[in-house]
Amino acid sequence: MTDTEIKKGLAGVVVDTTAISKVNPESNSLLYRGYPVQELAASQPFEAVAYLLWHGELPTAEQLASFEAMERSLRSLDPRTFALLDTIPSDAHPMDIVRTVVSQLGTFDETLHRPGGWTDRELDLGRSAYLFAQLPTVVAAVQRRRRGQEPIPPRDDLDYARNFLWMTFGELPSDAAVDVFRVSMVLYAEHSFNASTFTARVIASTTSDLYSAVVGAIGALKGPLHGGANEAVMHIFDEIGSADEVGAWLDRALAEKRKIMGFGHRVYKHGDSRVPTMDRALRVLLDESGDTGLAGLYETLEREFVARKGIYPNLDYPSGPAYRLLGFDTEIFTPLFIAARVTGWTAHVMEQAASNALIRPLSAYDGVDERHVPGA
Ligand code: CMC
Repeated sequence: MTDTEIKKGLAGVVVDTTAISKVNPESNSLLYRGYPVQELAASQPFEAVAYLLWHGELPTAEQLASFEAMERSLRSLDPRTFALLDTIPSDAHPMDIVRTVVSQLGTFDETLHRPGGWTDRELDLGRSAYLFAQLPTVVAAVQRRRRGQEPIPPRDDLDYARNFLWMTFGELPSDAAVDVFRVSMVLYAEHSFNASTFTARVIASTTSDLYSAVVGAIGALKGPLHGGANEAVMHIFDEIGSADEVGAWLDRALAEKRKIMGFGHRVYKHGDSRVPTMDRALRVLLDESGDTGLAGLYETLEREFVARKGIYPNLDYPSGPAYRLLGFDTEIFTPLFIAARVTGWTAHVMEQAASNALIRPLSAYDGVDERHVPGA
């Protein structure tokens, strides 16, 4: 053993600087490049937020139009991606399917063969836009495949949020519902050194390529302690069944020391800065649907868990039911998070590359003392 102080889970450790986002747990605020996230959610298309994260400034009208045109031109999937999807078992988890497709997209990129091509900023900006444009088409195709439906090609007359929903469902919900989806994408886009972003930065720090960093980040996001929580929230709702059952279910779950998904956060201890915005968005869908059963369960579980443990909901708590009301399968919720967070991940990959130091921490050995192989 050792006297070295170990910070399990790197809790409280500041490992580097970032200019991409600022989380302030004291004021419950989150800024993307200086802008409060709730202001961006209230006013900006998701395309403008992606641009902001990558370039540091909101686009002018001209820059936005040119970025949107590029994004629309990059949406269609390569036939080899459809062929790959056909080889993947139909019951594979969508997170594993999307991770596999992103890995394949990296193999299509011939600029990776250029000397220095793995970490070139201009090429990385293009790759980031490519993944941003491709992921909705991939996720929509995966969702449709689960329902035995043919994929729907992208429409270049629709913005990011509308096109995403169109490709998934073949119809568009109300403008208010589209806006809820856009808001969720903005809120999920970036959150400083969370586990998946840090994973992406670790991979980028070895001077590996952006696709590899995103594949690794997807693996980290899948876990229910991180992005997988939005899926896990709905599994809990399904297990509980109705608001009347919440009290007894919570007694049992807490006696078994279960983690209640969608609550708690490593950084925020008085509530997640993104929740009020997503909660308001969810209420639009709850009102539209008239689903009083879901509304009752959502409100009761929050009220009772906060009263018992003083632990507040995180973004995954309102976004899970919102994605259900929009019509997505539960297993697609975390892939939606990928489509949003790819903006933040890729911004961090580029920031890491711009002032790189290999991320290689130390460990304190606590295994057996030195010993020797008999006869060696
Ligand atoms: N349910 C029950 N108890 C909890 C929960 C929860 N959701 N969150 C924290 N606690 C308890 C925990 O059991 C521990 O109690 P004790 O000190 O008695 O052992 C105490 O609070 C501290 O918890 P911790 O797990 O050591 O704290 P952490 O900072 O490592 O945890 C967390 C952060 C997100 C891993 C945890 O709150 C959790 O597992 N939450 C449920 C999963 C979840 O919703 N994840 C999404 C996180 S935010 C969005 C995202 O990244 O996607």
